[in-house]
Amino acid sequence: MHFTRMSSYDTADVPIIVRGDGAYVWDAQGRKYLDALGGLFVSQLGHGRTDLAEVAAKQASELAFFPLWSYAHPTAIELAAKIASYAPGDLNRVFFTSGGGEAVESAWKLAKNYFKLVGKPMKHKVISRAIAYHGTTQGALSITGLPGLKAPFEPLVPSTFRVPNTNAYRASEITGGFLDGSDPEAFGRWAADQIAVAIENEGAETVAAVFLEPVQNAGGCFPPPPGYFQRVREICDQYDVLLVSDEVICAYGRLGHMFGAERYGYQPDIITSAKGLTSGYSPLGAMIASDRIYEPFAHGTETFLHGYTFGGHPVSTAVALKNLEIFEDEKINEGVRDREGAFRATLEKLLDLPIVGDVRGDGFFYGIELVKDKATKETFDEDESERLLRGFLSKALYDAGLYCRADDRGDPVIQLSPPLICGQEHFDEIEQKLRAVLTEAADLL
Ligand SMILES: Cc1ncc(COP(=O)(O)O)c(C=O)c1O
Repeated sequence: MHFTRMSSYDTADVPIIVRGDGAYVWDAQGRKYLDALGGLFVSQLGHGRTDLAEVAAKQASELAFFPLWSYAHPTAIELAAKIASYAPGDLNRVFFTSGGGEAVESAWKLAKNYFKLVGKPMKHKVISRAIAYHGTTQGALSITGLPGLKAPFEPLVPSTFRVPNTNAYRASEITGGFLDGSDPEAFGRWAADQIAVAIENEGAETVAAVFLEPVQNAGGCFPPPPGYFQRVREICDQYDVLLVSDEVICAYGRLGHMFGAERYGYQPDIITSAKGLTSGYSPLGAMIASDRIYEPFAHGTETFLHGYTFGGHPVSTAVALKNLEIFEDEKINEGVRDREGAFRATLEKLLDLPIVGDVRGDGFFYGIELVKDKATKETFDEDESERLLRGFLSKALYDAGLYCRADDRGDPVIQLSPPLICGQEHFDEIEQKLRAVLTEAADLL
């Protein structure tokens, strides 16, 4: 299984989910769960939409498969144009993949290839942030900032380097006591400047790209401090380094906009996306590059020697088109923007619990950091974290009918990413179930 202790399979502890409808899923025993993670940051429109299923069936009967290798098919063409129309600035060139990790791989390969074509062949290194997750293939895993996930597979692709993330709650630890996070702009400036330091350390002539999520997922939803991305853009321009916005989670409504870059007002050179593009009704990823990056490939015999059999699969591109049409018809982004304040306010009620240290995020994407001591922000040691998360929380939340993620890849957090159709009744249900389980967790410790 994926990211699963195999022993849980042997002991038949693995939940089997058989059906979904709206914001809910049901297991093989008929028990109902609120899907507060959108599957895996995927199910933007919720489960059980027959309009999306029908489009998939129609496309499969008309043209189930054809590759994008020197050929094209209508829904890929139409979808590429649609995505380009939403993407900020001159991000007009779309390359389809089957998922997010492949989009990240593609972006790194494109960055290296681009610099070779424009006469800067040494530019190949990547900078990314501590604790950030960018996928599991060898290149994407190398860009990932989670040492524990990488260790079993070392040595990975060389040439990637980590800079601090923007966990404002832990600003004091991150900056070595230099800043305490009370001035978010100063923290943002400091964190962005660490990218310049890393570029200088490596030599700008060797650095190709910096990979950043709009809101960093792993570690528990770190939104960018004000001014952070504007400063990063300046640094990238100064050193001719490509800014890759890894929006595998943050695009397609998760933050109330088609792209996170739009929400925070910055211009990437490349966006990587996947997950919500089809709301999970079929797998698809998309890398979106600027006209500037595309330009050197547009001449003579130049070719981007890269591709995936299932990248831009016709069923997936047809489903994505319908998904985006529904976004417009049902005003999905507007709905997220209207209701995100209520979501935040409902989750913030949990701050009265002694175990809840921080509630953070934007849009419909939140992390709740759990602490041992709220006053000192002391976190749990490895054993406590194991007992808390795996020994108790994951199962207790699930037994309570709430599917979400209890994660300790950074400090222990609960992560929420509900379908974008959710409203106050779902927010209340999330809060009430979390309250009951977290109260019990605090008593156990
Ligand atoms: C930011 C980010 N990048 C890349 C990936 C990898 O995507 P996939 O699992 O579709 O390969 C993920 C997956 O969660 C992600 O969150």
